[in-house]
Amino acid sequence: MIISSTAPLLFFDSGVGGLSVLGPTRALLPSAPTVYVADSAGFPYGKRSEAEIASRVPALLGRLVERFRPRLAVIACNTASTIALDHVRSALDVPVVGTVPAIKPAAEQSRSRVIGVLGTEATVRQPYVDDLAARFAADCTLIRQGSPALVELAEAKLSGGAVSVADIAAATKPMFAADRGAQIDTIVLACTHFPLLADELRAAHPGVALVDGGPGIARRIAFLTRGQPWPEAPPPGIAVFTGEPPSPALAAALARYGLHEVQTL
Ligand code: DGL
Repeated sequence: MIISSTAPLLFFDSGVGGLSVLGPTRALLPSAPTVYVADSAGFPYGKRSEAEIASRVPALLGRLVERFRPRLAVIACNTASTIALDHVRSALDVPVVGTVPAIKPAAEQSRSRVIGVLGTEATVRQPYVDDLAARFAADCTLIRQGSPALVELAEAKLSGGAVSVADIAAATKPMFAADRGAQIDTIVLACTHFPLLADELRAAHPGVALVDGGPGIARRIAFLTRGQPWPEAPPPGIAVFTGEPPSPALAAALARYGLHEVQTL
């Protein structure tokens, strides 16, 4: 298939979380045309049922692919990927990259063999996660926590709000209070919103390693698009919101990721 240099990479999340995948991708592919979609009308995905995600995400991505004709779509959301990746792949005729919890690299580096898996409530209950745990971390204790509060804190931070270390420590407390929780030495950031809070998470839990799948996904995107033509300079990136348009503070944050144009769907 001939790929036009202007065909974008399309990133999809429920909110701002996918920026943690877009950021490292831009670092590797600085002239890639970019469309970033926040399904703000469906946010938060973590509180939705499997059936809702499995019907909503492929339908929405189908519309988006028709509208923007991307060369590749990235489901920059663990919740949508662990539930709907196969449905999306069979519904679309473009390559689709998903985002799934980085349990394998976490198990490779944990010394205490006690790993926290911090995601949304929907993600941490997925059989997909059971499968990753059985394949790559069978000798580890995995303590899973779904945290809608952290998702909200990441959204607030990107909208210019202050996030305190105390807020973060309160949100992550159940994981550390669980049986063997005090031995957690590695946390899998199994929601794309959470790398946006990496500084605050590090301050709340010094000495605990954070595993962020974003850079690995960026490398995968670069690999899948190797040899393809890119424009000499990137056109302004487009941010698409399915609900209300972003506030001025959020629009300023999006511009820092090269997203200078805002559209609503
Ligand atoms: N960023 C999303 C994820 O990676 C979902 C956050 C939400 O909408 O609950 O799972």
